[in-house]
Amino acid sequence: MAKPRRGDLLELTIDDLAFGGEGVGRVNGYVMFVRGAIPGDRLRVRVTETRARYGRGVIEAIESPSPQRVAAPCPYFGRCGGCRLQHVAYEAQLAFKEKQVRDCLERLGAVPAFELRPILPAPEMYGYRNKMEFTVASAGGAPVIGLHEADRYDVVLDIERCLLQSETMNALLDEVRTQARARGLSVWDQESGQGLLRFVTLREGRHTGAAMVNIVAAAPDVETLAPVGERLKARVPATASVVLNVNAKKAAVAVGSEEHVLVGRDHITESLGGLTFQVSANSFFQTNTVQAERLFALVGEACGLAGAETVVDLYSGTGAISLLLARRCRHVYGIEVSAAAVADALRNAGANGIENCTFLAGEVRHVLPTLVRDGVRAQIVVADPPRAGFHPKALGALVALGPARIVYVSCNPATLARDVGDLLRQGYRLEWVQPVDMFPQTPHIEAVARLRRAE
Ligand SMILES: C[S@@+](CC[C@H](N)C(=O)[O-])C[C@H]1O[C@@H](n2cnc3c(N)ncnc32)[C@H](O)[C@@H]1O
Repeated sequence: MAKPRRGDLLELTIDDLAFGGEGVGRVNGYVMFVRGAIPGDRLRVRVTETRARYGRGVIEAIESPSPQRVAAPCPYFGRCGGCRLQHVAYEAQLAFKEKQVRDCLERLGAVPAFELRPILPAPEMYGYRNKMEFTVASAGGAPVIGLHEADRYDVVLDIERCLLQSETMNALLDEVRTQARARGLSVWDQESGQGLLRFVTLREGRHTGAAMVNIVAAAPDVETLAPVGERLKARVPATASVVLNVNAKKAAVAVGSEEHVLVGRDHITESLGGLTFQVSANSFFQTNTVQAERLFALVGEACGLAGAETVVDLYSGTGAISLLLARRCRHVYGIEVSAAAVADALRNAGANGIENCTFLAGEVRHVLPTLVRDGVRAQIVVADPPRAGFHPKALGALVALGPARIVYVSCNPATLARDVGDLLRQGYRLEWVQPVDMFPQTPHIEAVARLRRAE
């Protein structure tokens, strides 16, 4: 049969979920992607796009819903780009993530039989995020503060309450909006380069209760914004820090070139795994504290440290993994490209009295070979790379170091599969993989893989 045409109406049964969370169905072998559809749905779908090998469509009617379909609790669901799986029962979200990891390793990594451990579910399905970044935009002259509409970078939804953050953070979001409107604060306009407010980032130490508001504005207008900070503190007494980051450049990023403290300190503290971390407006910190603790406990267990080992922590960020492992081994070398993250890691080591960690700034592909040349040997390597995974030269340097065990923490099953496939060809064996759900309601997938050098 000829492939469908744009505008056609199809009867479609959904049998799979794709990587980003779209439903997948087939009409005589032709693959259709449908946003908001889930396996088991029988739908009437309007075709919106056709390509040689696949098409896209939108749901016109649900003829018969999947038994895994649930009512999404958020009123912005479907429009907001934040959550894409709220309409899928949590058990089915977990099964989807587990299957993605298995499929990637089998198909992309051509990994032969391996042990896939059951996914570690998150204890909190909502309210788990300790950081949210909201964009400020203007609607008819009044500020709206919220998240971008899915695939529409130009549309910002005015989010009154986000279910992924705590009620403390929701109160702060509400107060920022109230103050911005009551005081008639202007909103940055990308075209003209005029206006003040650009972003509002909220953070909360989940174990300490301390909250932070980072107002990103186009000018260092402390006089205007300091009273806003005072109102935030009055509404939410747990507010330990309100800062103003100034970004006067075109680039739409919530990072400023200068920072002014409006209320309290320039950072909050959070505890994780028994250690204390200082978190400033621009420092990286795991966004799901409770599940990060469980993820790192799994990493520790996978390392199986006896006390005398040297560990290399690749892509070490602000040092959470290094510092947690340092208590159980001889020495840890962390390698991280961001100089600011390395500075945070050093400060965190000092704050926790940890002296057996060395943090090196630079790209893994450059720094790791120098470590090997300097005679450093490590029995265990932990790697937590960004979505792109390992650079081929970084992987070559890892193989040259030749640790007996590699614990790979991945936020992208496709690059995990590629890198594991390479490591298998270089003499490693995959012992097991365990997915971990760090971000319920979203299609993001984290996994830990343990590899051992074949004797
Ligand atoms: C997933 S995060 C790791 C976070 C870390 N485990 C933590 O908890 O703080 C990945 C890190 O890799 C760093 N990174 C990205 N490319 C890099 C490279 N080529 N060499 C070294 N580090 C890199 C990023 O700056 C980021 O901090």
